[in-house]
Amino acid sequence: MLKVVVCVSGGGTNLQAILDAIGSGRVTNTEITAVISNNTGAKALDRARGHGIRGIPMSPKAYDSRDAFNRAFTEEMCRLAPDLIVLAGFLVKIPEEMVKRFSNRIINIHPALIPSFCGVGYYGLKVHEKVLERGVKITGATVHFVNEGMDEGPIISQKAVNVEEGDTPESLQRRVMEQAEWILLPAAIDDIANGRIRVADGKVCRISD
Ligand code: GRF
Repeated sequence: MLKVVVCVSGGGTNLQAILDAIGSGRVTNTEITAVISNNTGAKALDRARGHGIRGIPMSPKAYDSRDAFNRAFTEEMCRLAPDLIVLAGFLVKIPEEMVKRFSNRIINIHPALIPSFCGVGYYGLKVHEKVLERGVKITGATVHFVNEGMDEGPIISQKAVNVEEGDTPESLQRRVMEQAEWILLPAAIDDIANGRIRVADGKVCRISD
């Protein structure tokens, strides 16, 4: 059984997609043991608690410094000792110490086709604003392992989504979530839970059944 801790910051629609996929059997061999949020009022925490899953608020504002928060966050994660950490709309940089201790065991969903529209300043709605500003016709989402960089870890999966005439950042974000994020993230967790992928030479490869 893959023990998973999910980190969230907002509405938790990606968390909900994972919960629904576990409930419907599309994701197997997986248990979410806790949900952590830097945003103490995040609706995602309510979604977790509604499923009987421990919701842990951990706001950087409650600590004297970012270093103190990073230490506490890493210590809490080590206490929880998950097999996999899933960043689902999580807007806080992962402490280097945590990346080291959970090497190739942290995954993130990014709402664009990495290496496009990613890196510092590219998160949430801002990604879709830049996509529309640039006028690209295809965008999408990416699931990747987290390394010490920002959105630079080995790519697990991607899914393309059309940009439609008249799209607003909000309508495009919704389509990317519905058609890509909510499909890719549960599928990646199921692959990892059932030993279907591994990382070799910085690239993700599928292990045939
Ligand atoms: C989504 O666009 C996600 O890709 C981004 O944050 C937004 C909200 O995610 N990282 P959620 O609804 O909190 O899962």
